[in-house]
Amino acid sequence: MDEPPCSVCSQKDVKGKTRARYEAQWGQYDERIAAERRLKNSPVADPLLRTIMPFAGKTMVDLGVGTGGFAFRAMELSPPKEMIGVDFSSRALQVSKAAASVQPFAVMDFEGVLGDLERLPLTDRCADVVLSQASFNLLPDKSAGMKEMARIAKPGAKILLSDAFRTRVKCEGEPWEACVGGAVTVAEFSTLALSAGIIITQQIDFTRQVVQLVKSKKWDWPEFIEHRLDYRGFVMVRA
Ligand SMILES: C[S@@+](CC[C@H](N)C(=O)[O-])C[C@H]1O[C@@H](n2cnc3c(N)ncnc32)[C@H](O)[C@@H]1O
Repeated sequence: MDEPPCSVCSQKDVKGKTRARYEAQWGQYDERIAAERRLKNSPVADPLLRTIMPFAGKTMVDLGVGTGGFAFRAMELSPPKEMIGVDFSSRALQVSKAAASVQPFAVMDFEGVLGDLERLPLTDRCADVVLSQASFNLLPDKSAGMKEMARIAKPGAKILLSDAFRTRVKCEGEPWEACVGGAVTVAEFSTLALSAGIIITQQIDFTRQVVQLVKSKKWDWPEFIEHRLDYRGFVMVRA
């Protein structure tokens, strides 16, 4: 059976549109709404974080920190030495900095950094742990994003990434990057990781949990179901 046409396939300038979309979305947020979102998403974040906790003494970097759904959940469960959150949305960083100023985070070290995940403004080998949730699929140049992840990770650093993955729906006539941000298949992701010197040690299928969150309106992401995406968590190690 033919797939229905994708409503967003004709979009150009994917990165600029992604940024504008998140500036608008996070414009509706404050630290209270961010805390609610963090709690709603915890059925996906918590099991992945627990695979490598505790974080005491670790420098952690969250790529695509947004309003802190993953980073602040990690800080809640096991406070690290420091958490650096990178995002290209200045509004995301405003909200996450506001969240960082209230307890229990006010006594922790959080730094919000404005930057592009394809060209990180961070030094080589600065991170003991790299996090990224629901952000990698948004990168037009995933190879650059993966190489940057590998560059900032210390050898042996753990990388926890969770995201949407394409199963079968394809866009006709336009690059996939223009459609739902550009989710790749798990096989394509595995090749990208290995090429960058990142080894996958564990994979967790969170599709059922994300479908439930979307259906119960706890995660505003109708495209996830519309495009029959998968949601996976990966525990990885920098070689
Ligand atoms: C779906 S949100 C996820 C936020 C957070 N990780 C969470 O789980 O709550 C994706 C985030 O990635 C950011 N993002 C997307 N592409 C980016 C890029 N090229 N560079 C930096 N940030 C990017 C967006 O601004 C947005 O805040």
